[in-house]
Amino acid sequence: MAAARAVSRNAHAPYSGFAVGAAILLSDGQIISGCNFENASYGLTLCAETVALASVNALGRLRDVREIAVVGGRIGADGALIDVGPVRPCGRCRQVIQEAADLSGTNLTVHCSSADGSVQETHRISDLLPHAFGPASLGLA
Ligand code: THU
Repeated sequence: MAAARAVSRNAHAPYSGFAVGAAILLSDGQIISGCNFENASYGLTLCAETVALASVNALGRLRDVREIAVVGGRIGADGALIDVGPVRPCGRCRQVIQEAADLSGTNLTVHCSSADGSVQETHRISDLLPHAFGPASLGLA
């Protein structure tokens, strides 16, 4: 969660004013992080979780994903985050996380925190995305 909070400072979020950081814990203890990356063409925005998981993929480590931490909040005038409650992965991110869950054979743990850490939740991806579409849905597993 500390890594997620740290990387949220690098969010490129001038349009929404909402910064998100995500950190992925790998099986060997390595942590890979990412933050949201918005675009002037709003719909092209990349979420923090997806950015982090794409970096894990680039390392060839998707099978080693174990836990994910997500944190964020509104960007205040002083640049500090304003707490608006725990940030839970959006629907698209849940599906992207599910891909790592399928590859790792792990019901991944997802920690969701508010900006100031006063509220934290821990979920499993099967609870966040029940009846998921995955390789088995394609007849591949
Ligand atoms: N955002 C994320 O990075 N992850 C989520 O799971 C939810 C939303 C970002 C996208 C956009 O830059 C901003 O938060 C507001 O939606």
